[in-house]
Amino acid sequence: MLTIAVSKGRIYEDALPLLEAAGIVPLDNPKTSRKLILATTRPDVQLVIIRATDVPTFVEYGAADLGVAGKDVLLEHGAESLYEPLDLKIAACRLMTATPKDMLEIPKRVRVATKYVKTAQSYFASRGIQAEIIKLYGSMELAPLVGLADCIVDLVDTGNTLKANGLEPRDLIMDISSRLIVNKAAMKMKHQDIQALIDQFKITLAQRSQANL
Ligand code: ATP
Ligand code: PRP
Repeated sequence: MLTIAVSKGRIYEDALPLLEAAGIVPLDNPKTSRKLILATTRPDVQLVIIRATDVPTFVEYGAADLGVAGKDVLLEHGAESLYEPLDLKIAACRLMTATPKDMLEIPKRVRVATKYVKTAQSYFASRGIQAEIIKLYGSMELAPLVGLADCIVDLVDTGNTLKANGLEPRDLIMDISSRLIVNKAAMKMKHQDIQALIDQFKITLAQRSQANL
């Protein structure tokens, strides 16, 4: 049995066509079902539905053989204990700094609200900026509006969330997309099955990029 960890929401939606191309169609829809383990049309493959930030943990400990996780989440988790064989190029966005529109430049001592503490710390350190990082779990955009922070580090896609809150994107920290991650022991023990899946994903991704040319 192969167990694949996927989070509800955009990663699930974007991963579904890739899984389908590999003959893996879940028998229940996580939007309507409360089940956390989903059987699929392939009797040898099941999905576990978990929070996006928990995917690397399940895969690292072997509770799932494979997973789909955003690069943002992997940067925070640390990816040394996992294989990351494939950029699936789904759930694409950018990790950026953002400030209120009227701020001229990010000061040399700055208070930063973010869910991405480690990534933000090393980003500001690399730029010689002394940053006090305030860990939040969501709604980062609110922090500068209520005086909690000068600046945020968050994901930006359309930019609509920033705009709606009077903020603007500043510096790009990293382009983000979701990666296929694999448990190291499973890669050895279930090599043939996992490699076959990776190869199928690669074919689908190549077809996609060909279609976009
Ligand atoms: P959790 O449920 O643990 O709080 P979350 O709310 O961040 O996680 P999602 O919003 O589904 O979960 O995001 C999952 C992943 O999708 C993120 O880790 C990131 O890689 C990517 N992502 C997040 N926001 C966007 C966006 N606006 N556009 C495209 N991709 C995004
Ligand atoms: C993400 C991210 C930003 C927003 C950016 O939030 O945290 O708030 O998307 O997207 P945009 O640039 O297209 O507006 P999400 O929609 O996942 O909400 P949540 O983090 O509160 O779950």
